[in-house]
Amino acid sequence: MPDTLTILDNRTGKKYDIPIENDAIRAMDLRQIKVKDDDFGMMTYDPAFMNTASVKSRITYIDGDKGILHYRGYPIEQLAEHSTSFLEVAYLLLHGELPNSPQIDAWRHNIKHHTFIHESIKKLMEGFRYDAHPMGMFISTISALSTFYPEAKEILNPEVRQKQIYRLIGKVPTIAAFAYRHSKGMPYIYPDNNLTYAGNFLSMMYKIGEPRYTPNPVLEHALTVLFILHADHEQNCSTNTMRSIGSSHIDPFSACAGAAAALWGPLHGGANEAVLRMLDEIGSKDKVPEIIKGVKEGKRKLMGFGHRIYKNYDPRAKVIKKLAYEVFEVTGKNPKLDLALELERIALEDEYFVKRKLYPNVDFYSGLIYEAMGFPMDFFPVLFAIPRTAGWLAHWQEHLDDPDQKIARPRQIFLGAAKRNWVPLNKRS
Ligand code: CMC
Repeated sequence: MPDTLTILDNRTGKKYDIPIENDAIRAMDLRQIKVKDDDFGMMTYDPAFMNTASVKSRITYIDGDKGILHYRGYPIEQLAEHSTSFLEVAYLLLHGELPNSPQIDAWRHNIKHHTFIHESIKKLMEGFRYDAHPMGMFISTISALSTFYPEAKEILNPEVRQKQIYRLIGKVPTIAAFAYRHSKGMPYIYPDNNLTYAGNFLSMMYKIGEPRYTPNPVLEHALTVLFILHADHEQNCSTNTMRSIGSSHIDPFSACAGAAAALWGPLHGGANEAVLRMLDEIGSKDKVPEIIKGVKEGKRKLMGFGHRIYKNYDPRAKVIKKLAYEVFEVTGKNPKLDLALELERIALEDEYFVKRKLYPNVDFYSGLIYEAMGFPMDFFPVLFAIPRTAGWLAHWQEHLDDPDQKIARPRQIFLGAAKRNWVPLNKRS
């Protein structure tokens, strides 16, 4: 059986054999389909990229129907259970293999030597208003890094590129924690490079007068697992933004700031904040049926439910749900847990959700843990952005090295006015 697709154009009666590769056809192969020689040729129309692969990637695999997620072939459940550090998983995403002992030591060393930020960046952060949203501060500060490291624009130089990867992964927790301390009016805490990636982050967030901060091991572990679960998710909105901005060959700080901005939206990484606000608004279990009714009437969405790719339980949500109980052993139960469980129970039995295959996603339970750990709600998207930086960088690097790629530039179907002549102001109706 030939690996081709035969297309019959009923407008002309012409037949075309289009090669099939990896269960896909190349959109450019459709351009030969024309009615007249001077036609532009056939395009596909695919708003929101519902059925368009724009890259060949080897980083993350998702089977949305089966609820499967792999980083470089490793199931997310195994990484969450066995990886002892976030940096190990970040290495895996960026290098394709789990690091051996010397490799992880060198990787840790290099990242930890880039955790401090320039004092002028600190000053820049001090300039934000006392009530600035931490994600707004995070995005702006990431972007500002490009002005401190102008050599970062040499994106095709492997050594320069590698250095910016160390810098970004090393500095994002520091910038995030400084944004938090700023909003609290508390002094900034400098990185403690003897702690783990998650432990150091907790130290920069919560250290007060003690000479040395010792993170609670259960909370440190929980944060490590949450970081691992959020590290990558193939071609989602923010990753696609990272690739798209990066395709113009701008430096990775500017691209990362754009990706973080995309992540902030309530349909993407801002959903964890939206879930908690929704639970606050619902308030008690007896209001759940009324809320579900409103959702079914199309008046609102159930935040933390549904996914473009998963049409089954999000495997990350399963891990997080279990993790929540471990965290609550230490912090005490988040009172909103019962409400979330009730919402999930009713939704999963309801025909509206069943028919549309709407299940809890990664954001449904993560906010409950974050809140129990003392993170304010508006900080949740920042907690998502810290680990996702590793994923964005892995995709940015893959994109730059891919000979198939060029600057991202979609086509449009133009439905506006045809050419017309200028009308002077006094002649306009
Ligand atoms: N509550 C109620 N109905 C929903 C929801 C929801 N959360 N999500 C989808 N639907 C309905 C939607 O109205 C549509 O119904 P109909 O066929 O009658 O028009 C159907 O389900 C299909 O939805 P869609 O909007 O075509 O799906 P999409 O793939 O474009 O959107 C989504 C995916 C994640 C944006 C959407 O499910 C959503 O808005 N969910 C709530 C926000 C959220 O939790 N986002 C986090 C996603 S996971 C983490 C991440 O990506 O960062």
